[in-house]
Amino acid sequence: ASTLGASAAEKGRYFGTAIAAGRMSDSTYIGIANREFNMITAENEMKWDATEPSQNSFSYSRGDQIVNWARNNGKQVRGHALLWHAQMPGWAQNLSGSALRNAAINHVTKVATYYRGKVHSWDVVNEAFADGGSGGRRDSSLQRTGNDWIEAAFRAARAADPGAKLCYNDYNTDGINAKSTGIYNMVRDFKARGVPIDCVGLQSHLGTSIASDYQANIQRFADLGVDVQITELDVQQGSNQANIYQTVTRACLAVARCTGITVWGVRDTDSWRSDNPLLFDGSGNKKAAYTSVLNALNAG
Ligand code: G3I
Repeated sequence: ASTLGASAAEKGRYFGTAIAAGRMSDSTYIGIANREFNMITAENEMKWDATEPSQNSFSYSRGDQIVNWARNNGKQVRGHALLWHAQMPGWAQNLSGSALRNAAINHVTKVATYYRGKVHSWDVVNEAFADGGSGGRRDSSLQRTGNDWIEAAFRAARAADPGAKLCYNDYNTDGINAKSTGIYNMVRDFKARGVPIDCVGLQSHLGTSIASDYQANIQRFADLGVDVQITELDVQQGSNQANIYQTVTRACLAVARCTGITVWGVRDTDSWRSDNPLLFDGSGNKKAAYTSVLNALNAG
């Protein structure tokens, strides 16, 4: 096929992008998004600070703008993110202990209930593991409410929206390393104890090289009985950019349970990064990286 979404669909996968509500009136931006992608993530609009700006007072207008646009244009939605130590609203930053735990679970329940039936997959918990060699949890106010905060969040999300796939999402987890192994051990434990988890998101914010065991890492999560999604892909511009994009695409296609890829923005100028990491240049032209992804999706 001639677009990323249609080509991925032919392989039983989706191809998505993150969308920012503030850019939706840009006709070039929204035109590319509508043409190329069939899975949509709100870049910021469904996060805790956006959806619950004061305690128990919920604000869905900007999230709805993106969700409604996606659904009206035949696209599915990845929900991002119910709980994350960053972008917590100020009121929640001032809570700790059981008050924070209760507020967090209430947040999961309310937001997942509001969007019930409209979300393909939720990032229930984002970035809860530490960088470096410990393989352990990141210290945060949420973590200090007790090590079981992640499973409590997944159980609340399942109860609120039984139809959504529930994902754990993180970065620097793209190869087999201490951090990804920590997450692997958590997922294995969740599956063994019946904690509801359906997928692992590998953000894949990449530089000028890619781990040689990228595909093997996807495979080991899949072998635990969860789906894998590439959730926030972007790759530093450089001589290797198109190759790395192609390697990621091929790796996902090679693992049956790798169900889709999302890039973290449309044009280079829309990115949170300044190193031109996306598939379209600032004018909306297709880059070499775009062609390499499309060709990989259409191969075989
Ligand atoms: O909208 C406000 C604007 O009103 C204000 O004037 C301006 C001043 O700082 O800030 C604007 O908000 C910014 C927002 O992006 C929208 O542009 C925030 O400051 C800024 O922090 C926020 O950055 C987002 C970042 O998450 C927050 O941590 C990026 O857009 C977003 O791409 C990025 O996405 C994260 C994923 O959620 C999780 N994984 C990593 C990824 C990259 O950091």
